[in-house]
Amino acid sequence: MQTEQIDNLIINTFKDSKDGFVSGQDISNQIKITRAAVWKHIEGLRKKGYVIESVPSKGYKLMASPDIISAAEIKGAIDVKVTGRELLILDEVESTNDIAMKFGAEGKEEGLVVVAESQQHGKGRLGRIWASPKGVNLYVSFLLRPDLPPINAPVLTMMASLATAEAISETTGLETWIKWPNDILVNQKKICGILTEMNAEEEKINYVVIGIGINVNMKHEDLPMTVKIPATSVIECLGSKLDRSELLCSVIKKMDLYYGELHNNGIMAIIYKWRRLCNTLNKRVRVVLHESVVTGVAEDVTQEGGLVLRISGDSTKVIYSGDITVIE
Ligand code: BTN
Repeated sequence: MQTEQIDNLIINTFKDSKDGFVSGQDISNQIKITRAAVWKHIEGLRKKGYVIESVPSKGYKLMASPDIISAAEIKGAIDVKVTGRELLILDEVESTNDIAMKFGAEGKEEGLVVVAESQQHGKGRLGRIWASPKGVNLYVSFLLRPDLPPINAPVLTMMASLATAEAISETTGLETWIKWPNDILVNQKKICGILTEMNAEEEKINYVVIGIGINVNMKHEDLPMTVKIPATSVIECLGSKLDRSELLCSVIKKMDLYYGELHNNGIMAIIYKWRRLCNTLNKRVRVVLHESVVTGVAEDVTQEGGLVLRISGDSTKVIYSGDITVIE
């Protein structure tokens, strides 16, 4: 077994213990390593930033974990069929989407998840920059090879917004909403953005990368000043820090669940669930398109991800991208 695997097993023994204490002998028996090896690994964990207390006759107790995302810890906590079966956790990158796209071009199997502690050129929608400071947020990209025609690719972004909105709300207790096409809001502020990129032929998607950025422990004063919609973070909403690994595990598990559902039950199964979380539907909205502005009531979404706007009486218009504002 590799060091990281053993470290991870030791951390899990703490989680399973009732009063938090685990004796060196118990760790040794459970993991089948010598007492000397247990001691060596405890020292190693301490050097990595884990605060482990040792009390004579009681054993070791994990008091605090460092705020780092560890591949072994994530792998040990998820049991997935496709998304997350391979995990790449990096320190500083240009963009996790670029890395996942490169793997896609090289023929890598679907399911790879690329995570980084920071991004030098985090990419947002419509050519914008995604603020990606080190060690506070989540920057994650999923490489998938869905059996879908390119015209239906927007459902993948809808699937990701559904999965992420549910993961944020289950991990934090916060109420999340989806703003068409793919922003996740808490208290009407943007907490997460999603950028999907794809390589496709006329009838077939070769590979798609779904990039998810979640503002987790970024303090209010560090949040980007966005013109269209104010930004927020989990720490701003909760008033306390969140374990990023816990949220990451939840996002990966939800993505796997809904990717399976898309495969088994089809596009409408995802759209049905997505609609319930979308706060844009049945509202009067203004959409800024390339060279024009359209207003109307957002009535529905199509299987291609388009937003159906009722412009007046019996006239509707379907829009596929643009900045949208609820005006009522
Ligand atoms: C948006 O503008 O709302 C989309 C933001 C998407 C940001 C994420 S962070 C992980 C992934 N890598 C990138 O470069 N962008 C996406």
